Amino acid sequence: MSIHIKTADEIEKMRTAGRLASEVLQMIGEHVKAGVTTQEINDICHDFIVNTQQAIPAPLNYKGFPRSVCTSINHQVCHGIPGDRVLKDGDMVNIDVTIIKDEFHGDTSKMFYVGKPSVKAQRLVGLTYEAMCIGISEVKPGITLGDIGNAIQTFVEKNKCSVVREYCGHGIGRNFHEEPQVLHYGKPGVGEKLVPGMTFTIEPMVNAGKRHVRLLPDQWTVVTKDHSLSAQWEHTILVTDDGFEVLTRRPEESWD
Ligand code: MF3
Ligand code: CO
Ligand code: CO
Repeated sequence: MSIHIKTADEIEKMRTAGRLASEVLQMIGEHVKAGVTTQEINDICHDFIVNTQQAIPAPLNYKGFPRSVCTSINHQVCHGIPGDRVLKDGDMVNIDVTIIKDEFHGDTSKMFYVGKPSVKAQRLVGLTYEAMCIGISEVKPGITLGDIGNAIQTFVEKNKCSVVREYCGHGIGRNFHEEPQVLHYGKPGVGEKLVPGMTFTIEPMVNAGKRHVRLLPDQWTVVTKDHSLSAQWEHTILVTDDGFEVLTRRPEESWD
């Protein structure tokens, strides 16, 4: 297996898939509030993806995952399964959306606050967003995957937080997860060199405490071992001739 370099036609389809994934996160914001269950959030996203976007929610039945989005609350790191849990004031929740349109995937996640966040939560969420942006800003032809991982890890550890190692970003296209693996830690100059037409995600998971994680008995939900808060943001990125394009960019975001 090897890294698939997208053709101009495939890049156009990735742009569409990325935009749709981003629009799900924009749509769901107003529904994330105290008293709502993660199942309700899932169902609103599912309905929007299937009926409004006429797209496919990629997580549903992916390796047996039972819902259409992932919702990970507080010390949950990733892959939380939507269910009966009621969001309450002070919670923070990551909603991770992946859609398939015209055979191509767009994958993006964002942190939402329920009511008023603690100072700790705000610091972690802000720092994690910055870590993702620092990784993205490295992207251009000729740099290596290790350069991206190193930039993220250096920034996070300088701020006394830790990078989760068990889960990483990934190539994306016709497949949800394809080569290469995009580690959020590493050494400069190590690993695959980037070339125009590559598409992959950058999605650092950052813990306020130690980096170690545990899998819950549901076999999906990943939590921090020390129960410290964990945050994550994710974008799908295209390597261009002179840098990058954020395929899942939302209107409030801008680069350069
Ligand atoms: N969206 C996640 C990612 O960023 C993967 C979720 S897999 C699922 O790669 F099965 F849990 F949906
Ligand atoms: Co992803
Ligand atoms: Co994702």
